[in-house]
Amino acid sequence: MNQYQEAADYLKGRIKGNPETAVILGSGLGSLADKMEEAVVIPYKDIPHFAHATATGHKGNFICGRLGGKFVLAMQGRFHYYEGYTMQQVTFPVRVMKLLGIKNLLVSNAAGGINNTFRVGDLMIIRDHINMAPNPLIGPNNERFGVRFPDMTRTYDREFIRLMEEIASEEMISLKKGVYVGLTGPSYETPAEYAFFGKAGADAVGMSTVPEVIVARHAGLRIFGMSVITNEGYHFADDFVNDGADVIKAANEAAGKMTVLFSKLVHRI
Ligand code: HPA
Repeated sequence: MNQYQEAADYLKGRIKGNPETAVILGSGLGSLADKMEEAVVIPYKDIPHFAHATATGHKGNFICGRLGGKFVLAMQGRFHYYEGYTMQQVTFPVRVMKLLGIKNLLVSNAAGGINNTFRVGDLMIIRDHINMAPNPLIGPNNERFGVRFPDMTRTYDREFIRLMEEIASEEMISLKKGVYVGLTGPSYETPAEYAFFGKAGADAVGMSTVPEVIVARHAGLRIFGMSVITNEGYHFADDFVNDGADVIKAANEAAGKMTVLFSKLVHRI
């Protein structure tokens, strides 16, 4: 508990404007932070007890500034289980956000498309998830944050989904909606695994987000999630290879669209 509090106290001294919304920016999506006004950049390495971002396409900064007219706290880069961190380290920032008074968490990621109607560059509203990695709440329950057995029935806030669909139609941006399956990685899936998770009810697959969402839900935050589809896991040409650089490139290309949508969502919540 002290570690969360120490990190929160440090950040409290540096952030502006009592933000109620935080945004976690996934692989290749960090450019949203460039659109923030009056931005204060706080490198993770300056924050007590914070891990360091090592994944490609991930900078390691908290950025506090105005987006959609409101102060928000953005994480430019996140921690993944495949980097060797414990689930407690991966989700540490979410609890720090809670202590800072954050009420809404917007999460984004790059994901592989499993649903064969999805194309590279599509944006998918996460309407639900399937967790295939260790649960970050394993261990003694921290009662200061939430209950032992948190409900996960409406994890992704329905009002936020409705607002986002309204915004997308005003902006004439088409959105998909589906289920995200979270795995540990770091290897990509075999064709048989993509097909398997499709049969299990997933539309997209990735290596992040779910641990943060579980810890955020435990702490009572309202959540909105969006995936950028960066590769298509349902047809494999003879010479196809999954490549992390292609994933970052596709995510970068979609970042502009996502930035518009997230700014408007922040404005309306
Ligand atoms: N699988 C897992 N994680 C990913 C993928 C994928 O195909 N694409 C982007 N992140």
